[in-house]
Amino acid sequence: MPTKEAAQARDRAGEPVVELTDVERVYRMGNNEVRALDGLTFTFRAGEYWSIMGSSGSGKSTLLNLLGCIDRPSSGSYRIRGTEVATLDDDELSEIRGQHIGFVFQSYNLIAQLNVLENILVPLFYWDEPPPDAEERARMLAERVGLGGRLEHKPNELSGGQQQRVAIARALVNNPAILLADEATGNLDSKTAQEILALFDELHEEGKTILLVTHEPSVGRRAEHTLRLSDGRIAEVTHNREGAST
Ligand SMILES: Nc1ncnc2c1ncn2[C@@H]1O[C@H](COP(=O)(O)OP(=O)(O)OP(=O)(O)O)[C@@H](O)[C@H]1O
Ligand SMILES: [Mg+2]
Repeated sequence: MPTKEAAQARDRAGEPVVELTDVERVYRMGNNEVRALDGLTFTFRAGEYWSIMGSSGSGKSTLLNLLGCIDRPSSGSYRIRGTEVATLDDDELSEIRGQHIGFVFQSYNLIAQLNVLENILVPLFYWDEPPPDAEERARMLAERVGLGGRLEHKPNELSGGQQQRVAIARALVNNPAILLADEATGNLDSKTAQEILALFDELHEEGKTILLVTHEPSVGRRAEHTLRLSDGRIAEVTHNREGAST
């Protein structure tokens, strides 16, 4: 497994980071089958900022969970930085997740017993050898998201917006190839949501690859490009004028 730094150096703007080929995800419930993803073929490239939209049930979260190595396809190929991950077992999938993925959820998903600094460090617990500068990096990220003065606070001592900032710092601590966010601003008031989106804009300008699921058109247009799903298929691809770097 290459080191993070080597992997990062390999990502040049425009190179494929994520390649999906004929990806299907079928949920089986008794005799019923739900084809949540129905043959997706798509490539996301380094440095791109995409929003993923579509009506409720169109497959957005299913797609993000696959991309985030929380789930795997029923069939088809999914490669991250050239490595096939569709056929990995759970342990291998966790390892890939720890190495390459940053995930931000609507409901923050922080660990209540851990303080801000410890929560940011969580993804590195799964590394065989955490980087020696892990804590320094976590402190820097806390500073970056405006929580440098709250390192000892527990999640229940923070506002929703602050908790989401911790979640973003946590998603960045492993310097991921790709930052995934599923309705990351869905629980926040509009001012706080704008602050979080401004943070994503900054990360995009720094070259991070970002995929953001949202049902709000105004949020979707913040990304450079929009992928619209319908019934588990790609219905439309649009390139947004408002997008951060266009
Ligand atoms: N664990 C599951 N078991 C069975 N069916 C599921 C499961 N998760 C999702 N589905 C089904 O797969 C389809 C896609 O669901 P998904 O959660 O990806 O939609 P979504 O686009 O994220 O919707 P929303 O905007 O409401 O979050 C839906 O028909 C849903 O009912
Ligand atoms: Mg969803």
